[in-house]
Amino acid sequence: MSLLNMSTTCYMAVILWLTTGSTRCQTAIPNVHGGVGAVLGVSNASVLLQDPSSETLYLGARGSILALHTSNLTWKHPSIKWEATEKERKSCMGKGKREDDCYNYICLLEVLKDGRIYVCGSYAYDPQCGFIDPVTFTLVKEEGDKVGKGKCPYDPRQPHTAVTADGVLYTASPSNFWGTEFDITRAAGQQVRMDQSINWLSDPEFVSSALVRESPGDDDKIYFFFTENAIEYDLYTKVRVTRVARVCKGDVGGSKTLQKRWTSFLKAQLVCRDRDSGQYYTVLTHAYPLEHRLGDPSSTHFYTLFTSQWKGERVSAVCVYSLADITKVFATGGFRDMKRNCVNSGSSESVPDPRPGQCINDDLRAQGYNSSFDMPDRVLQFAKEHPLLTSTVDAAPLLVRRGTTYTRITATNISNSDAALLHLGTDQGELHSVSIVGRIATLLQEIPLTTSVEPVNNILIHQGHVVVGSPSSLSRVPVEGCRVYSSCQVCARAAGLGCVWDVNKRACVADSPVQRESEDPLKVCGTGEGRCSPVVKELRVKKGLVVLLPCDHPHLSPLPCVWEHPQGRHTQQHHSHLEVTVSGSSLGFYSCRCSAQGDYSWGSEPCLTASYQLIMEDLSVKGRVDPGLWRSPVWVYISCVLLGVLVGALGATVFLKRLCWRAAQQTQLVDRNGRGANQGQQGRGPTCYENKLVMSDTPVGQSGESVL
Ligand SMILES: *[C@@H]1O[C@H](CO)[C@@H](O)[C@H](O)[C@H]1NC(C)=O
Ligand SMILES: *[C@@H]1O[C@H](CO)[C@@H](O)[C@H](O)[C@H]1NC(C)=O
Ligand SMILES: *[C@@H]1O[C@H](CO)[C@@H](O)[C@H](O)[C@H]1NC(C)=O
Ligand SMILES: *[C@@H]1O[C@H](CO)[C@@H](O)[C@H](O)[C@H]1NC(C)=O
Repeated sequence: MSLLNMSTTCYMAVILWLTTGSTRCQTAIPNVHGGVGAVLGVSNASVLLQDPSSETLYLGARGSILALHTSNLTWKHPSIKWEATEKERKSCMGKGKREDDCYNYICLLEVLKDGRIYVCGSYAYDPQCGFIDPVTFTLVKEEGDKVGKGKCPYDPRQPHTAVTADGVLYTASPSNFWGTEFDITRAAGQQVRMDQSINWLSDPEFVSSALVRESPGDDDKIYFFFTENAIEYDLYTKVRVTRVARVCKGDVGGSKTLQKRWTSFLKAQLVCRDRDSGQYYTVLTHAYPLEHRLGDPSSTHFYTLFTSQWKGERVSAVCVYSLADITKVFATGGFRDMKRNCVNSGSSESVPDPRPGQCINDDLRAQGYNSSFDMPDRVLQFAKEHPLLTSTVDAAPLLVRRGTTYTRITATNISNSDAALLHLGTDQGELHSVSIVGRIATLLQEIPLTTSVEPVNNILIHQGHVVVGSPSSLSRVPVEGCRVYSSCQVCARAAGLGCVWDVNKRACVADSPVQRESEDPLKVCGTGEGRCSPVVKELRVKKGLVVLLPCDHPHLSPLPCVWEHPQGRHTQQHHSHLEVTVSGSSLGFYSCRCSAQGDYSWGSEPCLTASYQLIMEDLSVKGRVDPGLWRSPVWVYISCVLLGVLVGALGATVFLKRLCWRAAQQTQLVDRNGRGANQGQQGRGPTCYENKLVMSDTPVGQSGESVL
């Protein structure tokens, strides 16, 4: 982080505080039911399971499993302790593993057919599994050699995924001590695995899995999402690509070829690419299936979260893939020849019939194929050698956000529409709500959840709430219905979800068709602001200052914004933000317009989203300090101290550093893009929220119940 970056930002924070005089720096802390965490002593919580039959939330952490009431996150049973013995830990460390990795990290919790909970843990680099009786909440370990192999990684840090279909467990995980072999398995009943003699996978990082039902007569399918090396592109450099793979629920393996191995395994590339910028997002973080019409699995869309392949670049993108598009590629795409080492070659062999990877359905049964067992060897041999399709499943991002790393995504649908509400967890322990209407992504809320900064690693939807988990805490936040938007401005943003501000009740309510007629949801807020007529913000500036003007639009979709400003040489647009180095010629009127195509609430004309008036500060009033001094790093630090004190923070150098560092990060992200980068809290002018300088009228942070 360059000092220049740091100083500019801290500098700016102070400037804005001085010039507006009203900056209130709040460190938002949710109403944590404090102290409970210490009693529990739980760390490294990583798996959450909601058992709908008993309204119980199971949580797997390091060496323990908890059972909580989902509705209020209170304890239902005393926790189960399941630690690796000292001997096993010693043996693990003896094999050269770090002490910290030689605990029993719970990595899998799933409900089985008989109602018991199946649990696995990394168990000091020797994965073990067991069964939990949900009534007594006691653990019975599963007997047998290597029962955990292939279900959980040996290394607790390696990614993996699991899902149950009709109470039968399917897993995708590294399957050996070194983490170099990988398997996708049906772990119980008709056990089926991958064929390890051929490279069906290349260094995969499994992210998510899902069961998708089919109509009667067809076989249900299990989908797996992961990132792996693209061996089809280049033999010498590593290119990571995102894949979706699927197997049939009824696949029992072949009779001669592919015995007890998947006969239906197929994979295809998922492409998430912004056509305007040409940018590809290639590293998949999470995927979540949402039925757009309840009870109709064919309406499933997968909401997927991507980040860039380049380390250190903080950027997140959301791409959505319809099941219909994925199914089409699996059903009609060409097969890639993996034997011949040529780039982009389709297979020269003709595709056998029945088509490889096809699940047994009524059609095939009519032809005498009752199960994968009946499939001819030539079909299975072809399937074995051609797991990858040449066609890709393509999508353009609905949302791109720089400076924010999202770690988890879930989505809920909005009644009878194609609109959806996304719940995104960040690596900083925040929950963000984003509405998707048409192709427009609008930021509604940013909710801080934990007092310590930890990544969100689980989000579950339960009765109009989301339960959000991170390694040491759990929160429950209401997300459903218009009433969760507690300010008029936020409610106006949620207009696309059918929300409207009721002036009498001073609450956000679901609108009636009559009210929907009133075209400008912002008008009722009484701020003088209209949808495309923001209040002009007056900024008092000094010569030589660097001021960053946000474009103040809540859209996170990749949309172009254009600035109009006085002819100044020292003006630079960083994506949607404008950086102005103040000189005599830079005083005057600045405005930003964004086009919002497809957003019915804005119309199709470019919309004025922010306007500023820059006027010269009268030094005799506030300029107690020589402007020249403000530019020196010493003053920057003093400024930060002042600001720190105001924030009511610890005042320690550590904090100061963090503040500056965070602020610098903010600059950096603004420099890189800025699009939607500083949506913040409170509609009361510039605010510091979690040490971020925010200059927009954006959603109010809101706290939920928290424990641990
Ligand atoms: C467990 O948590 C500790 C403390 O937060 C962390 O340092 C460690 O890396 C975690 N271990 C694993 C395997 O995630
Ligand atoms: C939490 O919810 C459960 C059942 O939903 C109830 O039995 C219990 O009393 C509740 N606990 C508290 C502290 O509210
Ligand atoms: C498939 O099942 C049908 C009815 O159960 C049976 O008549 C037929 O012989 C079976 N076909 C094969 C190839 O096993
Ligand atoms: C989607 O909307 C329908 C219709 O209002 C609702 O009943 C259903 O619960 C929603 N489905 C999902 C999967 O959330």
